[in-house]
Amino acid sequence: MPKQFRARISSLEPTPREVFFNRRKFLSTVSMGIAAASSQFCRASQLGEDERLKPPIQRPDVFPATRNAGYALPEGMRADLTPRVTAASYNNFYEFLPGGAGPVWKYAGDFKVDPWKVEVDGQCNNRMTLDLDDIFAFPHEERVYHFRCVERWAMNVPWSGFPLSKLIEKADPKPSAKFVRFTTARKPNQMPGLRETSYYPWPYQEALRIDEAMNELTMAVTGVYGEPLLKQHGAPLRIIAPWKYGYKNPKSIVRIEFLSKQPKTFWMIQPHEYGFLSNINPNIPHPRWSQARSYWVGTDQWFPTPIFNGYGEYVAGLYPDEPRTPQEPLRSGQVAR
Ligand code: MTE
Repeated sequence: MPKQFRARISSLEPTPREVFFNRRKFLSTVSMGIAAASSQFCRASQLGEDERLKPPIQRPDVFPATRNAGYALPEGMRADLTPRVTAASYNNFYEFLPGGAGPVWKYAGDFKVDPWKVEVDGQCNNRMTLDLDDIFAFPHEERVYHFRCVERWAMNVPWSGFPLSKLIEKADPKPSAKFVRFTTARKPNQMPGLRETSYYPWPYQEALRIDEAMNELTMAVTGVYGEPLLKQHGAPLRIIAPWKYGYKNPKSIVRIEFLSKQPKTFWMIQPHEYGFLSNINPNIPHPRWSQARSYWVGTDQWFPTPIFNGYGEYVAGLYPDEPRTPQEPLRSGQVAR
């Protein structure tokens, strides 16, 4: 991890992550000694290396999906893919591993993603309950996108799935639908991070404006690197909106809701740090670090952060007032964009 890395959480994380995990490791070692080999963390530590890259679902009829070469990586950007194992080893998924990115895969052993249901409801004419067959029935394609976490690590990843607009069209939103909210799985018996972090507003929810959700870049993602999504990447269904910070890309979705009013989202509990729009913008510093530069995940190689992550040709028109000159960091009490 580069020296410059600083934890996402400040005041909200009562237990620093190192302490949290050392304590867990200590407790699980003790409990193993006593006999309770059923502890999540005991079992987690026994996960074999092969678990890290093993898709939890098999769909040979869908994967690998044909790559859509129409979506090139942003110009001037390094063009090679991030190694699959690197992307699968350093993930953000607080339900399993709170406090920042890390080896989520080690803690996802108990997570069950098949069967799965996604409720589609709210302000739409065609409410639906989708199962895995319904989700995989959408015509799939692969797109290589540049991805950027608010913590500053970045990667180039081939995601498979379909434009979210296809699902939205099927649901037939009413004119009153102005926002789309995504609710993600909350399964404390399968997600060890949930059990330790009652101070967070679970379940993890994110939302987009309907025009953002309908944008051609926004994907409903079911696969990565030519195979079904790994648990640590958000199996079986997540969102990728590549011009927004990673936290606007919710994982393991169980509900998609059309709303008339802008909802509160998970990270807005720290409103001066994480706004609703959260477009990637080098001019808007995080209150505790600059966003002007990014680094390739797993390396110490830094590069300038492009505005909208390099996808301005698709999305700049949605945000005529996006700041184009360096801004002052916000203070507590202010509200981020
Ligand atoms: N979705 C859920 N349900 N829970 C999370 O903690 N973290 C977000 C996002 N989606 C998160 C989530 C953050 S902060 C990032 S950077 C991306 O997932 C990381 O995606 P990746 O681990 O597949 O690279």
